[in-house]
Amino acid sequence: MNKFITIFGFAGSLRKDSYNKALLRAAMELAPKEAKLEIFDLEGIPPFNQDLEDRMPEKVKEFKAKIKAADAILIATPEHNYSMPGVLKNAIDWASRPYGNNSFEDKPVAIMSASTSILGGARAQYHLRQVLVSLNMHAINRPEVMVASVDEKVDEKGNLMDEKARKRIGQLLENLIKWTKRLETE
Ligand SMILES: Cc1cc2nc3c(=O)[nH]c(=O)nc-3n(C[C@H](O)[C@H](O)[C@H](O)COP(=O)(O)O)c2cc1C
Repeated sequence: MNKFITIFGFAGSLRKDSYNKALLRAAMELAPKEAKLEIFDLEGIPPFNQDLEDRMPEKVKEFKAKIKAADAILIATPEHNYSMPGVLKNAIDWASRPYGNNSFEDKPVAIMSASTSILGGARAQYHLRQVLVSLNMHAINRPEVMVASVDEKVDEKGNLMDEKARKRIGQLLENLIKWTKRLETE
């Protein structure tokens, strides 16, 4: 049976012209017909405060609900000081709480990154992967989508134009869909 797959995507950047948001927009265009990608902006998620776990901010409630409703997750991360940005970690921390109500529990996930440097956010991806283990998510390994020197790969409107990168994003989505279906048969 060809089940329709819903993918929920977000980028670890609040920047209006974020290159990682450009990766998500490209993913939206490249998503196979059997899937739909919804993009969420982390703007408005406050700094994590455990005192608020029993009365979560509205934006966090919305974030958690959308994660739970999705079949699969797609994360685009910048690299800040060799790791994921605080904005991304902060949002993940909220969604993992309160204890026993981790919205990411058991979800398939794919990750990608874009950076103006020559490593394309590789180090941030490996830190993020470690966090995904704590969340009990099931991350796919291939293809690795690490878009280096990304500022040379977008047009004047900030859209990702690089064919190699676009092809890898398309392949990543196909693999994520296959992986999601495999996990759902168990
Ligand atoms: C605080 C800060 C730290 C950064 N550290 C790194 C880094 O360690 N490695 C890297 O490749 N790029 C680093 N960069 C460059 C970012 O990858 C680049 O700004 C990228 O465009 C951010 O993603 P965005 O366009 O999605 O906001 C850093 C940028 C900032 C603002």
